[in-house]
Amino acid sequence: MNDQNRTPLFDAIVEYNKRKPSYFRVPGHRYEKGISPILREAVGDAIFSFDLTETPLLDDLHHASGAIMEAEQLAAELWGADYTHFLVNGSTSGNEVMIITATHGGGKVAIPRNAHKSALMGLILGGGNPVYIMPELEREWGLHGGITPEAVEKMFQENPDCKGVMVVSPTYYGIASDIRGIADVCHNHGAILMVDEAHGAHCYFSDLLPKGALELGADVCVQSIHKVTGSLTQSSMLHVKSDRIKKSRLESNLTLVQSTSPSYLLMTSLDVARHDIARRGKEMIDRAAALAIDARDRINAIPGMTCAGKELIGRAGIFDYDITKLVVSADDIGITGFDLKKMLFFDYNVDMELADYRNALAIVTFANEQEDLDRLVEALQDIAEKNQDGTLLPLAKKLPSQPEYVLSPREAYFSDRERIPWMDAKGRIAAEMIAPYPPGIPVIYPGERMSEEVWDFVEAFRQRNGHLHGPSDGKLSTFVVVR
Ligand SMILES: Cc1ncc(COP(=O)(O)O)c(C=O)c1O
Repeated sequence: MNDQNRTPLFDAIVEYNKRKPSYFRVPGHRYEKGISPILREAVGDAIFSFDLTETPLLDDLHHASGAIMEAEQLAAELWGADYTHFLVNGSTSGNEVMIITATHGGGKVAIPRNAHKSALMGLILGGGNPVYIMPELEREWGLHGGITPEAVEKMFQENPDCKGVMVVSPTYYGIASDIRGIADVCHNHGAILMVDEAHGAHCYFSDLLPKGALELGADVCVQSIHKVTGSLTQSSMLHVKSDRIKKSRLESNLTLVQSTSPSYLLMTSLDVARHDIARRGKEMIDRAAALAIDARDRINAIPGMTCAGKELIGRAGIFDYDITKLVVSADDIGITGFDLKKMLFFDYNVDMELADYRNALAIVTFANEQEDLDRLVEALQDIAEKNQDGTLLPLAKKLPSQPEYVLSPREAYFSDRERIPWMDAKGRIAAEMIAPYPPGIPVIYPGERMSEEVWDFVEAFRQRNGHLHGPSDGKLSTFVVVR
């Protein structure tokens, strides 16, 4: 058992700086001296002494054997992994590595259709062949639901050569799938379970939240420590708890997607965030949950406003729910999530994380104050009082069937492409994705042939000026296809 009170990387940097060396390495700013006075005045000088590089005292992320290795071991112990790697390019790089490792130059993996785009990047980089699994649709909120063990079992019946399954759990909106059930199915078929837990690093520390993926049998997971706990943006972790994954392969794939000059500021922020969680994680995360529970009750008492909660469990493949996410809908008074988010920011100075057609999402963390939640609730109260009529478009009854898979995402990405009028896109092989909101699930991926059914579905959205995510021409007058 390591001593979680230690902060090996932080301490190594403090020790190094005490030596006050004549510095001839990168970065070129030599502590604060080379930094613009504008930035120094705004942020102070101390932070720049942590922006260092590999020195004999500071270890090397790509061959960790000293302070970074110890910091990673402490993190592994805290989250219950066999081993952990610090990531300086976010969970984006972690998802890429999981997929490149599982597919290893062409193998098959199952990807949820609503996966983060880094999953697609992993397929493009690694040349893997995806089988897409469709999450169920939660119709009342217009949200993607969970992936069920039954859907995964069915996928294996049709694709016995599938090497791994990726699941996003909890999602941005807090929706957790049945990870234990899915892990059992994967392992029965000799495949690995990879969990994109970008939004779930805090789940391990409070009984009020879904359990963490590693506790439930996932082989590997990726966590954006920066999203829900206290590290700096871009700092994430990749945890492995499995002997089904070839360590040397995974580690060499990490070098494909991580800088050879990893930021010591980011890595130190991971070390000290882990230290903080180790000391008072339960208190921190219980506090976030308590703030969110109270705000949710108050929002639900406002006529015209609703906030999703644990009642979602059991519907649409939803196995559990992270109550620190506040998914707020003003659907009943005809305000879209996009407009609600705008009003909250421009009229009330309340900044929500994201919006979709139906909902706006607040992420509540341990570092929020009661006052933040009060401002959100009071703003929603005021918006509801001032806007009591209006209707929203109904959620599409059914998504179109998945189109024909012609090329892998990598083949589509590296093919000759051309931009053609959208009107001529039927029958062509897509080189970009289209995800209409709601519900934001891609109806076509690069490499798939544009069917009449998908084209009609997207066209109906386009004509209503609906929100389309993915195409480089946001108005979709044109579309990029394989030549
Ligand atoms: C589900 C999911 N996975 C992965 C990522 C990428 O995480 P990062 O920003 O740490 O690269 C995000 C980012 O929003 C996400 O929502």
